[in-house]
Parts: sequence; C-alpha cells; structure tokens
Amino acid sequence: MIMKPIEVIVVIFGVLILNGVECRKGRILNDSILEYSAISCRAHSASIVDYGGVGDGKTLNTQAFKQAVDHLSQYASDGGAQLFVPAGNWLTGSFNLTSHFTLYLHKDAVLLASQDITTWPVVDPLPSYGHGRDAAGGSNVIIQRVTIIAPVTSPNTDGINPDSCTNTRIEDTYIISGDDCIAVKSGWDEYGIKYGMPTKQLIIRRLTCISPYSAAIALGSEMSGGIQDVRAEDITAIHTESAVRIKTGIGRGGYVKDIFVKGMDLHTMKWVFWITGNYGSHADNNYDPNALPEIKGINYRDVVAENVTMAARLEGISGDPFTGICMSNVTIGMAKKAKKYPWTCVDVAGVTSGVVPPPCELLPDQGGEKLEMCKFPSDSLAIDSVELQKCSLTMN
Ligand SMILES: *[C@@H]1O[C@H](CO)[C@@H](O)[C@H](O)[C@H]1NC(C)=O
Ligand SMILES: *[C@@H]1O[C@H](CO)[C@@H](O)[C@H](O)[C@H]1NC(C)=O
Ligand SMILES: *[C@@H]1O[C@H](CO)[C@@H](O)[C@H](O)[C@H]1NC(C)=O
Ligand SMILES: *[C@@H]1O[C@H](CO)[C@@H](O)[C@H](O)[C@H]1NC(C)=O
Repeated sequence: MIMKPIEVIVVIFGVLILNGVECRKGRILNDSILEYSAISCRAHSASIVDYGGVGDGKTLNTQAFKQAVDHLSQYASDGGAQLFVPAGNWLTGSFNLTSHFTLYLHKDAVLLASQDITTWPVVDPLPSYGHGRDAAGGSNVIIQRVTIIAPVTSPNTDGINPDSCTNTRIEDTYIISGDDCIAVKSGWDEYGIKYGMPTKQLIIRRLTCISPYSAAIALGSEMSGGIQDVRAEDITAIHTESAVRIKTGIGRGGYVKDIFVKGMDLHTMKWVFWITGNYGSHADNNYDPNALPEIKGINYRDVVAENVTMAARLEGISGDPFTGICMSNVTIGMAKKAKKYPWTCVDVAGVTSGVVPPPCELLPDQGGEKLEMCKFPSDSLAIDSVELQKCSLTMN
C-alpha cells in the first residue's frame, strides 16, 4: 500500500499505541525542572537535541528520533525513559516508539510531517489483516490532550486507531482529519477472525472532531476480532459526515456489541446515526461469505444536533439484522435543504424515546417519559482507576 506523506500523524499516533507508552502534558517550573504526571515516572531522560535534532521546521529529524528511541529503549527494564522534545517545529518521517517510554512534547513543540514520500516506508501488516492496512496493537493505553491536524481533504488520515486494544482511555483530544477522527478496529475478514483479538473496554471522553468526509468515531470496518464495551462521552463534532458510525459487511464475522454513547453536541452533518452492513473492501477473495457480523446493543442518548441532512441511515444485513439499537433524548435540527423523510432503516431492530424528528417504525417510540433509556454504564473500567504519579525531571 502506498502511504501519502500527510499520513504522518496516523503513523506517529498509531505507533503511539503500545504498551506503556504515554503522551501527556506537564509544566516546566523553571529552566531545569519539569513536573508531569505519568503512569510511572521514568528513571532516565534525554532531549531530542542530544541526538542532533533541530527544531527549525527545515531539518529532517527522522534519524535523530530513531537514534533517540533506539538508545533509550535499553532502559526499558531499568525504570524506563523519557524523550523530551522542546518548543520548535520538528520535521520528521515515521519512527517507532518503544515500551516503558514517554514521548514528551513541550506545549509549543510541533511534529511536522515530512512531505517526502520516501520518509514514510510501508510497515509490515499485523497478522490480523493479512496485508497492508495501517495498524498497531497494545493494551493499557492512555492518550490525553493530543491535538492531531491533517488536511480535511487528505485520504486515510484517521486520527487515532485503537486496534485490538483492551483497556484504553482517550481523553481531551482535538482532531481535524480527512478520515475518521477515531477509528476502532480489530482485524480484517478471515485474518481478523483467526487472530481473534477484540478491542474492548475503550473509553473516549471529550473528543472534538472536524472531519467533513468521515465520522467522529467509526467502529470498523475492520472489526473481525470483535469490538465490545466502548463508552463514548461528551463528543463534539463540527462539520463531520456522521457521528458514531458502525461499518461492517458480509465476510467480516466478529461482533460490535455493548456500545454506549452519551452526550453529543453535533453541528452540520449528513447522518447523525449511520450503520452500514454492506461495507465492501475485503482483504482478499478468500473471505467466508457465511461469516456474518453480530451487531447488537448499540446505545445512544442525550444528543443535540443542528444543520443535519438526514437523521439516520441504518442498514443491517438481510437475514442478519442489527438488534438492540436504543436511542433516547435526541433532538436533531434539520438543515434547510434536508431530505423530506429523514430516516432510512433496513434490517435493524430497537427502541427509541424522546427522539426528534420521529424515527422509523423499526425503532418504535416507548414514550417520552423513558428519556433515561439506553443506560450508560455506571461501573468504572480498570483503565479509569489507573492512578497517575507525580513526577519531576531535572533537565540539563
Ligand atoms: C528550579 O526550581 C527548583 C525547585 O523549586 C529549585 O530547587 C531550583 O533551584 C530552581 N532552578 C533555577 C535555575 O531557578
Ligand atoms: C517499526 O517497527 C516495525 C515492526 O518491528 C518495522 O517493521 C518498521 O520497519 C519500523 N519502522 C521504523 C521507521 O523504524
Ligand atoms: C437530555 O440531553 C441533554 C443534553 O443533550 C441533557 O442536558 C439532559 O439532561 C438530558 N435529559 C435527560 C432526562 O437525561
Ligand atoms: C449547514 O450545512 C451546510 C452543508 O450541508 C453548510 O454549507 C452550511 O454552512 C451549514 N450552515 C450552518 C449555519 O452551519
């Protein structure tokens, strides 16, 4: 697969999704002490400048980053390491992160994607994909306060891809993208089914997304290892194609279930609810046409949207209906040029309460007093109880 230079951000943050890797914010007390919070304080530290990095927006820093990560990886079993990136514009191609490692960006440090395509080599695919789709796997990951900006017309620039991840927390992120702001995945067709590693226990909070041609959050289309227990809260989307979208198809197998979405503030979009059961794009022709995905328990509540073309486009699979769809307390303001009948529902089943405009008959209204329907789980997930330690770092 050919990777466009603008996909830098995908690669960097895709590779960020590794066990024990963190990306976070701290404050510099004075010239020499940096205070930050982290899952674990790192025993060793270095600055990208120590490896010859230059933050002038012109010098290519790929080798400096590679050497720094290579060198610091030796401390993995000795307290871990942190690489500090000072204020500046750091031009780079792709580089890998490592375990027990923190990439620490100064608040005025910008990673700039090199526009030279040769600095973006194709990465070997995961076994769950068969062949090339950008991907990374991990567990116990926290991503906080990350801003990712790609041109809205750039293809395949997903912001963050949690792929076959368990216990992940993505909070306070701001993403402008030409593709999905967050795309949740778990492998592709027969390869993903065989590998069988789901994405589960995923929390997404306070995401702000701009993506005129894609979704704020997509589940799939590569979901063959399963996606379960996703909790998305306080999502703001400004000009996206859809909000929390499910993409799947015949041959995918797997499941998408126990999905909970609460609190969405949406401005300008084509479809607030979009579920697609006929997503094409197969790994190869060996997919099993009898491998049908199981889509059930999809809950949306407390949604306000304005300037919407179509309220919903819900398309299950004939003979494999998508069930347990629940929507409550949803107010959708239609655009001036909106379609006359704002709902399309095929091969789906579920219930609604307090949804405006009135939904299709496959999602019957249970009465306005049931606004509390589509309960958001009140238990907390393991990743929520991870306590961050207060750390300080002396810089030379
Ligand atoms: C930075 O702050 C620390 C802690 O307050 C102090 O010990 C140190 O002397 C300060 N260094 C400078 C250069 O001001
Ligand atoms: C990153 O690691 C992967 C997997 O080990 C490898 O295929 C790839 O070449 C590495 N990329 C870089 C830029 O070092
Ligand atoms: C309905 O949703 C709005 C926000 O969209 C929220 O402020 C309100 O509390 C919700 N009502 C109920 C009964 O949950
Ligand atoms: C409404 O959406 C259309 C695109 O469908 C856009 O051109 C227009 O600017 C939006 N209006 C407002 C008030 O946001």
